[in-house]
Formats: sequence, C-alpha cells, structure tokens
Amino acid sequence: MSMIVRRLSRAATAGLVAAAALTAAAHSAEAADTLGSAAAGQGRYFGTAVAASHLGEADYAATLDREFSSVTPENEMKWDATEPSRGTFTFTSADRIVDHAQSQGMDVRGHTLVWHSQLPSWVSPLGASDLRTAMNDHIKGLMGHYKGEIHSWDVVNEAFQDGGSGARRSSPFQDKLGDGFIEEAFRTARAADPAAKLCYNDYNTDGVNAKSNAVYAMVKDFKSRGVPIDCVGFQSHFNSNSPVPSDYRQNLQRFADLGVDVQITELDIEGSGSAQAADYTKVVQACLAVDRCTGMTVWGVTDKYSWRSSGTPLLFDGNYDEKPAYDAVLTALGGSGDPGDPGDPGDGTASCTATYTRTADWNSGYNGQVTITAGGEPISSWTATVTLPAQQSVSALWNGTPSLSGNVMTVRPSWNGALAAGESTGFGFTVAKNGSDAAPTVGTCTAS
Ligand code: XIL
Repeated sequence: MSMIVRRLSRAATAGLVAAAALTAAAHSAEAADTLGSAAAGQGRYFGTAVAASHLGEADYAATLDREFSSVTPENEMKWDATEPSRGTFTFTSADRIVDHAQSQGMDVRGHTLVWHSQLPSWVSPLGASDLRTAMNDHIKGLMGHYKGEIHSWDVVNEAFQDGGSGARRSSPFQDKLGDGFIEEAFRTARAADPAAKLCYNDYNTDGVNAKSNAVYAMVKDFKSRGVPIDCVGFQSHFNSNSPVPSDYRQNLQRFADLGVDVQITELDIEGSGSAQAADYTKVVQACLAVDRCTGMTVWGVTDKYSWRSSGTPLLFDGNYDEKPAYDAVLTALGGSGDPGDPGDPGDGTASCTATYTRTADWNSGYNGQVTITAGGEPISSWTATVTLPAQQSVSALWNGTPSLSGNVMTVRPSWNGALAAGESTGFGFTVAKNGSDAAPTVGTCTAS
C-alpha cells in the first residue's frame, strides 16, 4: 500500500493533489460529526497546525486523523528548519507531516516562505543582491520539493509593523530590498508552483485597523498591477488583550471584495468554558458569512502542546477530550454529534449510487469518471470504492480524496460531499494500463 500511496503522492505530483488541493477534504465517512466533515458540508476545510514530533502519540494522531481535513506544519517548513545552511535543504520533518496528511486524505497548507523570524543565522548578514538570490532560491527549493502538494502557501508572513503606523516591519528583507521584496517573493512563488494559492499572512489584522488597512492597500495594489496573490491569511490569535474584533466579518469581506480568498490560518482563543466557546462561534460564523473564506485552521490539536498552552486556547484539552469550544465550532459548522437525529443529513436514510464511465482512452492509459448521485434524501458525504485490475495503477485523481489498499481505491469527497436529494457529483482519475485494458469495478456507494 505505501508504495502506491507514494506513487499517488510525491512521485506522481501534478494531477492528484493539485486537483484535490484547492478544496476542503471530507476524509471521514461519518459526515457532519467531525470538524472536517462538517466544514466540508459548508464547502470549507477545517485544519490544524501539526508538529511532526507528536505524530507518534496515538491519541494525538487519532484526534488529528478523525477531525481535521487540512494540516499546517507548525514549524517544520520554516526557513531555519528547511534550509539551515545555504543551499542545503532538509525536508525530513516536513515530509513526515505531508506524508501523514496525504495518507489520511488531508490537504496541506505551506507555512511559511519569507518571514523575519525563525530565520537561520546565515541569512541576515547577506548583502542586498545576495539576499535577493537567497530568498528566491529558498522559495524555489521549498516550493519545488512540494510542487502540486500544497493547497495554499504563506508566501510572506508578518511583513507589517504591529501597532498604529501601518508601516512595514524592519527585517533583513525590508531593510535591504525595500517594499518590493514582497512582490518579488510572490512572483517567484507563482512560477515555482502555479497550482498553489499564494497568501499573505499576518496577525492583528483581523479587524479594521491601521495594520489591516496597510495590508489591504498592498493587496489592492497587487491586484491592480497583476502581481500574483490569491489569498490573505488572518492568523487570529485571540486573548483578552486581543479579543475577537466586532468587525471581523466586515474586515474579511472587504479583503474578499478585492478578489482574493481569505483564510483563518492560526486560530486560537485563550480562555475556557462557554465564554471561549462563544468566541469560537463568532469566528466560525464570520468565516461562513464570507463566501471567499475558504477555510479555517486552529493552531494546534490539543491545549497541552499549544504555543500558548497556559491559555488553554484550543478545542481539545490535554486528554484530547472535546471542550465546549469544540461543540460550539461543530454546531456553528452545521455539524451534529448525533447523526441519528431525525432530520439530520445523516439520519440513516441517506443513500447514493455510483456509476462508472471511461471518458478517454489511449494506448497506455485511460481516464475514468465515477458519477455519484444522492438518493431520496440529502447527503453530507459519500464513499465509493474502485477496484482496479491487478496490473493497472492510478496516476492522478481529481474531485475526490482517495486512499489505497492494494488495488482497491476508496474515494471520499474533497469539496463535493454535500448533495441535495437526487443531485450528482463525481470524481475522475487517470489509470496506467500496464498491459491490461480491463475495466475497473465500482463497488456500492455509501452515504451519510
Ligand atoms: C509559532 C509556533 O507555534 C511555535 O512552536 C514556535 O516556537 C514559534 O512560532 N505566527 C506564526 C507562527 O506565523 O509561525 C507562529 O508559530 C505563531 C505566530
């Protein structure tokens, strides 16, 4: 199995992940009773920051795998982790996270390419022209390694000064290259992986204020001049000094109106109980109210490993028990902890059918399409199996999230889990025949 997953992931690159990447993955068959599946029902992803060092902890991995549809490496893709000395890239820890995510059908956010913090010491002393080369080489090296595998990249992180001025923050990049470094980073990033959404990411920009106004002006300028930018990330680290702003939705919306997606990228809210839960509800509702808010990421799985663990800012406590904040988020996403309730999308009468057609054929391969049609009830998610003749292998898959066991491919939705009664969607795939022209077998469709 791992060999095939490998082939479907890094080795096969382009088709599969690029297609699945832009979307929310519902990797759980029990729709709407996990964060990822409930968010997928709203056309969003729900992600978390992940540390490679915790993946070996069974409860950590189980909670991650069950609940989330996107992961962001918390530190493993930063410059100090990936290019500790010039030109020498190390991807071991980041690869662990990406491999884990892909094995679970989760999408990956890339964080981050150009940032003043967590920079290796060799970067700051470089002169301007050398620094420019180093920055571009870093972007190309990192994005090239994960080409086609990252749904969104934080290209530049935290380039604006905190506080009232709206000025750029002093950093080696700003000080030596001037304002233009941001634009240059985005142009280099676009060329390095055209399939990835390119984001500018920052904090204390969640409401309308001088800092967010300055970012807004930059994005507006980029859009008017054709500088490639696709999204703005709002870190959303909240506590009593920095509460959820009352104009959060309005701020997200004004950015979206510039023609970019918005994403909540590092959400955590210090506190506990119903007050914390109510704040989380506000954030989820703000995102859902903005069409171009494509997903949310919380900055960690469990309070015990949070970078602000004393503030207990996350959705699971140190024992991986769901906190009131978890229930609030699930409810705000339209999910339900009890899929058996009458009227729930997953009330037991959900059903679907899967039909297969070959849509293209050539000497060494073919394209297949499976159409999924909901039965007489709306459904939140579906699962279909495709069994391939022994010699054949899948090299790409789009509009679905596959997992492989031998020659049986189980496919769940990426963005397309929720269907009205009688509505259809589908996924497509490319197969290498390897000498066999036989048709695959499509198993029974199951819905929830
Ligand atoms: C934090 C990590 O969570 C910590 O483990 C690390 O020690 C410091 O960085 N803004 C960002 C994130 O963009 O990369 C930061 O992550 C939190 C603030």
